[in-house]
Amino acid sequence: MTLPVQYEFSLRPFNTFGIEAKARAYLRVTSNDQLSAVKRDAELNALPRLVLGGGSNLLLTRDFPGLVLHMATTGVGIAGEDAEATFVKAAAGESWHRFVLWTLEQGLGGLENLSLIPGCVGASPIQNIGAYGVELKDCFHALTAFDFETGETFVLDKAACHFGYRDSVFKHALRDRAAILDVTFALPKQWRANVQYADVAQELAACGVTAPTPGQISDAVIAIRTRKLPDPAQIGNAGSFFKNPVVTQQQRDALLAGYPKLVSYAQADGTFKLAAGWLIDQCGWKGRSLGLAGVYEKQALVLVNRGGATGRDIAQLAAAIQADVQAKFGVLLEPEPVFI
Ligand code: FAD
Ligand code: EPU
Repeated sequence: MTLPVQYEFSLRPFNTFGIEAKARAYLRVTSNDQLSAVKRDAELNALPRLVLGGGSNLLLTRDFPGLVLHMATTGVGIAGEDAEATFVKAAAGESWHRFVLWTLEQGLGGLENLSLIPGCVGASPIQNIGAYGVELKDCFHALTAFDFETGETFVLDKAACHFGYRDSVFKHALRDRAAILDVTFALPKQWRANVQYADVAQELAACGVTAPTPGQISDAVIAIRTRKLPDPAQIGNAGSFFKNPVVTQQQRDALLAGYPKLVSYAQADGTFKLAAGWLIDQCGWKGRSLGLAGVYEKQALVLVNRGGATGRDIAQLAAAIQADVQAKFGVLLEPEPVFI
């Protein structure tokens, strides 16, 4: 099989920060067989690898001295059903949001709260994408992946993925080892609206909706996101730049004593999630810039490329914010995007 590999390839159009960085080698992967062919090719197989989806959770701080495998495989369909769920399957390269809209067109609810998240289906399990009270794991059934060490494909069910908040096995034991080929979701036949997130409830109420359909929840989420988050086509960004830090009740109580307006959310295990955006905002960073890198005016958790920033500019701004938040609140913010 001849692989259409391109060399010294600009990744600028393929990362939502819009950062210029070159890949030593680049392959647009349009069939899963191409991954086996990469494995068989001694020269390509020896290179460091980066599996790329929509580039919406990446910070390119340098040229990538290896092979970028840009997953562009397509295909969505109903994969079966049982008494509780309809199973839907999508290939790695499918746009996440288009896939969500397709499920809604089929009359299947479950993914509507995850509308308008950028990126591809294949990346969605990596950090267990989440928004507005729902995480991918709530509807996840299984995935197929290609193992670059063995050259075999394997299937993982939900338990094997070890999903957590912005976390999965792909950030630990399987880091840099596998390419996800497709993902199957179990969408409930007994659908129930998830409107526990205050913003969603308020948006629906403002539209006069009392018994929302999946489509109406999707519309509400799209409206909220469009208001709050910058469109990467206009302003380079990767969504939330830091995870919301999780602290013990003791830590949260101590912070609350000093900062009565602290925003925190109780978790099922007794810990508390702090709103990183609030912490950054309190440090006075909202709307500020450091060189060409900036903090979004409407959401302090989102770092933006004001035009021509390098990955290092963004990383420097992130480090300055981390230092201020640590000094003021004693909390270390952990970046969400993957640094290359
Ligand atoms: P990429 O950025 O291409 O890759 C991210 C990581 O996944 C990399 O480590 C990459 O190597 C790996 N990867 C990608 N595809 C594969 C594959 N097929 N197999 C193996 N590894 C792979 N995230 C949320 O969770 N919730 C949000 O609400 C949210 N909102 C966002 C809003 C904006 C405006 C932006 C820009 C981003 C937002 N994100 C959010 C982050 C991002 O959209 C998600 O993390 C998304 O799943 C990344 O998908 P991607 O295809 O762009 O991945
Ligand atoms: N806040 C401020 N100032 C700010 C930003 C936020 O005070 O500048 C406060 C808000 O007032 C609110 C709280 O912080 O009380 C939380 O803000 P928001 O509802 O916007 O959500 P978030 O915690 O900042 C998280 C996710 C988003 C996800 C939304 C909706 C993380 C790291 N981020 O943001 O995910 O879309 O909730 O569920 O968990 C992403 O991961 O890239 C992402 C965008």
